[in-house]
Amino acid sequence: MLPTIVREVDAVVMIDQRKLPAAEVYVRCTTAKEVARAIKTMVIRGAPAIGVAAAMGIALGMRKSTTTGTQKFAAEFYKVCELMAATRPTAVNLFWAIDRMKRAFGAAAAAGESVDQIKDRLDREAQAIHDEDVASCRAIGAFGAAVVPADARILTHCNAGALATAGYGTALGVIRGAVEAGRNVTVFADETRPFLQGARLTAWELVRDGIHTTVIADNMSGSLMRQGRVDLVVVGADRIAANGDTANKIGTYTVAVLAREHHIPFYVAAPLSTIDLSTPDGQHIPIEERSAREVTHAGGSQLVPDGAHVWNPAFDVTPNALIAGIITERGIFRPPYTESLAQAFEVEAARV
Ligand code: MRU
Repeated sequence: MLPTIVREVDAVVMIDQRKLPAAEVYVRCTTAKEVARAIKTMVIRGAPAIGVAAAMGIALGMRKSTTTGTQKFAAEFYKVCELMAATRPTAVNLFWAIDRMKRAFGAAAAAGESVDQIKDRLDREAQAIHDEDVASCRAIGAFGAAVVPADARILTHCNAGALATAGYGTALGVIRGAVEAGRNVTVFADETRPFLQGARLTAWELVRDGIHTTVIADNMSGSLMRQGRVDLVVVGADRIAANGDTANKIGTYTVAVLAREHHIPFYVAAPLSTIDLSTPDGQHIPIEERSAREVTHAGGSQLVPDGAHVWNPAFDVTPNALIAGIITERGIFRPPYTESLAQAFEVEAARV
């Protein structure tokens, strides 16, 4: 399986997703600040992977701290958490992972642990977040395989694969799960302007796995659907609100509308850590806007004349009414989502 991110004793190492597929380069972050920068600049991206990176970055930052007193250590810890929280606003897994690290810290402090013991606990928590994410993705894949018909032609947008998670992927997890279940699957990967996660990353992962993949420019999906060449759409998510409205990579909404027009089921695959019951609906999801340069330039070449204005929202919101089901590690949730998601979390709370 692809090593998206690995913790070493004195570093967090990640594959540089900006360089793929042309080069397989690994970035070694030796400070929390470097990890935060890697998230911001999209060395690592994808909601669950961002959460794992933040958790590992916090653990690394605190491991390297030379502070001895617990009070000063606590002040440093909360500062590092703030640094991570300021990287990208939409993917809720980031804030979920930071909260988990804060809870681990709180439990350690309440138990009167020493600075060294707290450092160990933070390392273990970050690794647990990583390992649980891989397990969640595999469960998503196993549940999701059930909605994939025989000889399925699946369209996906952006990259919700091993690279976007700790491994295996969410939307690509469903595809991998279907392949493992013996289905014959062919994938259409939207190239996903402007950062090209579909063309560069999804295609790279799937080709490596030997899964038949066709890359299309974003504006081709409507025509493809009209020709009856898509059976199913599966995408990932950056934040799912309490009512099921889903923020994902810009262009996802367009795909969902097209899928509805052509009577193609549109599924979202995501772990529970992407569901944010404290956000009531899509209107309340903060949408990150990124630099104009991502739109005006590609691979160093200028595509847009100087003087033209640019709008570059990184995500859009797909209304719940367009979503056939939300595939999670605990099963597939169906509309009405306000009820099914709330119930899922009640069951989850009873498990722990
Ligand atoms: O801007 P990105 O590349 O971080 O956006 C990624 C996506 O939109 C993914 O679809 C989403 O995070 C789900 S990843 C399992």
